[in-house]
Amino acid sequence: MATVTSTQTQHLPISVKANSQSMEEKPKVRRAIDEEGDTVAASHPHYLPVWDHGEKYAPLQPFEHIERGKGADPSFKDLLTEGSKLQHLTPTTGSEVTGVQLSKLSDAGKDQLALLVAQRKVVAFRNQDFENLPIQEALDFGGYFGRRHIHPTTGSPEGYPELHIVHRNGNVSEFDSFRGNRNSSVGWHSDVSNEKQPPGTTFLYALDVPEVGGDTGFVNQVEAYNRLSPLLKERLHGLKAIHSGLQQAESSKKRDGIVRREPVASEHPIVRTHPATGEKALFVNEGFTKSIVGFKNEESEMLLKFLYDHIGRGIDYQARVRWAPGTVVIWDNRVTSHSVIVDWTTGERRHLARITPQAEAPFETPYIPE
Ligand SMILES: [Fe+2]
Repeated sequence: MATVTSTQTQHLPISVKANSQSMEEKPKVRRAIDEEGDTVAASHPHYLPVWDHGEKYAPLQPFEHIERGKGADPSFKDLLTEGSKLQHLTPTTGSEVTGVQLSKLSDAGKDQLALLVAQRKVVAFRNQDFENLPIQEALDFGGYFGRRHIHPTTGSPEGYPELHIVHRNGNVSEFDSFRGNRNSSVGWHSDVSNEKQPPGTTFLYALDVPEVGGDTGFVNQVEAYNRLSPLLKERLHGLKAIHSGLQQAESSKKRDGIVRREPVASEHPIVRTHPATGEKALFVNEGFTKSIVGFKNEESEMLLKFLYDHIGRGIDYQARVRWAPGTVVIWDNRVTSHSVIVDWTTGERRHLARITPQAEAPFETPYIPE
């Protein structure tokens, strides 16, 4: 196991590696590199995931989050420097930036990055050098924005548990089984919203991506909140929902996958306020939100179904980001949901790496009558 040195990291590895001499008791380790078959070689094989059944982490402890976007200069002068170009994908949601090298940003530029992403919800930066940096350098960059999360059920490159790897190697049967029982691949979610302090400014960078397809869809949950009637907004304020990681852990176990940290459930406000922008967002997602505290089952199901339908159908407050080599997509996980779009059938590999800084415990501010 890697020695993790960042001060932003407080994960405590628990050593459960079998110290028995017996080979049979050694925890199973599965490596994606061993399952490549006749696929086209990965361009970044050192980023392929390893699932180590012996790798365990203690429960996450509370930490004080420093919100980098708060108080950042809204002129973005240290971020959008001369020669850079910012283009909006839609009026409310999503932007693309060219002419900026993220890894070279000053701290002021990084603070402005957090603010820009909070305002635009998702920003794609093109032609970045992240994929070619030593992995630890990319992790250090992400660690500026919050404590780096270790995902409880995914594999990581050996020695870098804080990297969450998104990977389909193009194996057709894997795609068939993914799509086998569903009409659409769309599954809106906010990453690990079940944690007490879910992620904020979140980074995903391309390693291998299909030439066409495999986009990521984002929905702006501030705008989803804004579209509601004043009466419904007022009713939602003060409500809390339970977000649980149990199902994710169970489904990993069913597939003989790993559970590196025991899943937790958290109660979060249904309307949360962003600490940098002050905007209010709907904070529910189909991936993790299970029920509304204090409501009876049918009431909770009905209201959550309405909210999920509202979020899912709002193409007028969604953006779709197209991947390309060298692209780093950054979203604010507090005010968005996202979904992969599994629509390519070419057998091309889709391999991305995520750095997931955790943020504050969600909080709400009072309803303001309109
Ligand atoms: Fe995700």
